[in-house]
Amino acid sequence: MKFFLDTANLDELRTGVSWGIVDGVTTNPTLIAKEGKPFEEHIREICDIVDGDISAEVVETESGPMIRQGRELAKIHKNVVVKCPLTREGIKATSALSGDGIRVNVTLCFSAAQAIIAAKAGAYIVSPFVGRLDDIGFTGMDLIRSITQIYRNYGYATQVLAASLRSPTHVIDSALAGSHIGTMPFKVLDMLFNHPLTDKGLEQFMKDWHKTFQEEPAAR
Ligand code: E4P
Repeated sequence: MKFFLDTANLDELRTGVSWGIVDGVTTNPTLIAKEGKPFEEHIREICDIVDGDISAEVVETESGPMIRQGRELAKIHKNVVVKCPLTREGIKATSALSGDGIRVNVTLCFSAAQAIIAAKAGAYIVSPFVGRLDDIGFTGMDLIRSITQIYRNYGYATQVLAASLRSPTHVIDSALAGSHIGTMPFKVLDMLFNHPLTDKGLEQFMKDWHKTFQEEPAAR
């Protein structure tokens, strides 16, 4: 399973990359706006930090301007994946951009029917949002299970990117469901490391080692 960071914060990206476990980045207009820097320049900086797919979202609602913006975004760097919303206009733009050989991540997917549409339009990635479905009383993970099953049934090449992941359990369940990618905030990636037995075990190992080899050097 590929791990993507769902952030536009450069310090978070640098830390994740230093761990060697970040395969790509997803951004959205909210995350980009939070950092307050010019859009294209910011995407370029992200591409300099992370060597992997970097999703940059169009901020248009009509297919014509979306296609034009998507083409411009794709020119920023070879790793840029253009993100289009799962609307009629977004799918029209997805079909056109995919036809041009531009990789598209279809975002804001909330149903299996929408995911089939994204695959048929030639999307490189589809992004079903788990946490936002949980927020309104659905079981978001059921959607990941349905989409991975349907894509397997038909051999669709579109990759399933489990998005809006809010906890380590979401990450594990997405992996069990066969999601190709999981995108998560930095906080969730950081939490994946944690286990109290790791901390306890390491503390004991260090204590035993230092007791023999550092605190009592004369005994050697
Ligand atoms: C994915 O590409 C989205 O940016 C993201 O996962 C949305 O997550 P949220 O629902 O926590 O905002």
